[in-house]
Amino acid sequence: MQLDIALGLEDASMNFHLIDRDKVKVKLPEAALNRVKEAAEDKLTHVILPAEKALHIAFLGEAGNDPYTLEAHRKAGHEALSQIRHNKSVTIQIFDHMNDADAVGAFIEGLLLSDYHFEVLKSEPKGSDATVIRVKSSVFSAKALDEMVQLTYAVHWARDLVNLPLSHLTAEGFARAVATAGDRNGFSVEVFTKQKIESLKMGGLLAVNRGSIDPPTFTIAEWKPEKAVNKKPVVLVGKGVVYDTGGISLKPTANSMDFMKSDMAGAAMMAAVLDACARLKLPIHMMALIPATDNRPDGNAIVPGDVITMYDGTTVEVKNTDAEGRLILADALSYAKKFEPSLVIDAATLTGAAVRAIGTYGCCVMGTADDDIFEELNEAGYETYERNVRFPLWPEYEEELKSDVADMSNLGKGEGGQVSAAMFLKHFTDYPWMHIDIAGPSFMHSKNSYRGKGGTGTGVRLLVRFMKKHFDL
Ligand code: BES
Ligand code: ZN
Ligand code: ZN
Repeated sequence: MQLDIALGLEDASMNFHLIDRDKVKVKLPEAALNRVKEAAEDKLTHVILPAEKALHIAFLGEAGNDPYTLEAHRKAGHEALSQIRHNKSVTIQIFDHMNDADAVGAFIEGLLLSDYHFEVLKSEPKGSDATVIRVKSSVFSAKALDEMVQLTYAVHWARDLVNLPLSHLTAEGFARAVATAGDRNGFSVEVFTKQKIESLKMGGLLAVNRGSIDPPTFTIAEWKPEKAVNKKPVVLVGKGVVYDTGGISLKPTANSMDFMKSDMAGAAMMAAVLDACARLKLPIHMMALIPATDNRPDGNAIVPGDVITMYDGTTVEVKNTDAEGRLILADALSYAKKFEPSLVIDAATLTGAAVRAIGTYGCCVMGTADDDIFEELNEAGYETYERNVRFPLWPEYEEELKSDVADMSNLGKGEGGQVSAAMFLKHFTDYPWMHIDIAGPSFMHSKNSYRGKGGTGTGVRLLVRFMKKHFDL
């Protein structure tokens, strides 16, 4: 059964409500104030104060906006939420001596990001954490809070999409979820069906889909505000492999295939970035292109050695059917040329090599965009603690992709595999381009503070921050 889950609806997984800070009147008893003083002396990050009708949390973190301090504040926000679970009403009182909007913001962000449950597939959902969180602070504005809430909705939507298994999220289901979000938040969505994809001759996407019982989709989402600051769009591309078995080059079940419902985390990230920018009404014209399919073995599946013709006419020898992400991304990257983009960014759970290189602590980035654009991404990475490390596209990696029989092979050497994968993609670009390999941070196998367990929604906060920086907003 394919559930048509109303994704993109905030109520699905979010439980907090925004309350106008000026309407919150908090009067703490003397004892509580003393408790705050003691806690501050003990250098606690926060203290929970039971009061008449609600709980209050006093945040006591240090001021400062270096990435590690802010990350500690996000984690403290997560801890605070775990302590107040199951309370209906919570007031977060930020004490004025803090006087630091960044620090307070990080604490609230950690708290909001932690208020997430993936329970749509449980017959008896356990329900929410705190149902009402009120924020009162003299430094953190209601507007900033509202923006943070909107951004969190988008992150949690990305997490929902990643957490849904193939049984409940096929390529068509993914496209429908994006269309639902578009209707709700005011961006337009067009979905190409298999027939259209065939008529366009998107050979990479069709090749990966050949072993599947479900049709592929190619989703184009567009946010085009009237007063956009840019003339040429920024195009986002996301890998939408809704399940990766490896195809005929089958993965072993334990450890490598069992979490491959997350192989569409790049697609979820890009859909959610567009969703967030629409929610925040950022004046930036941007698009998201999402090729989607599952990758399975079957009588008709592609086999190692097959040669396929891509959307742009390049012939590719498929040496390993598990290197499928680059095949579907390549078609989308070629298709992006038609929009004459100022910048293209793709995100993908592309290689195990990226995880081996830097673990789950950040993503590997590569590309042809100017150094200052990569620097903006790097800064946004530290500010959001969604860090990234740039790797070089040296010509030797291109050598690795030579094929005896076709224009290119889809397989480089194992070492530095995240770079040869990027080198493969580069062939299909002719514009400033950044590639983000999120294979490491996109999915957590055990609980990881405010990132949770399972899909993390990584990259959404990173790119929204990057966009604001890039366009001086
Ligand atoms: N989806 C995987 C990459 C992946 C690995 C994502 C670990 C998340 C966590 C991708 O399609 C893949 O299988 N890549 C192969 C490429 C290889 C065959 C060149 C890999 O990394 O092993
Ligand atoms: Zn694969
Ligand atoms: Zn994959």
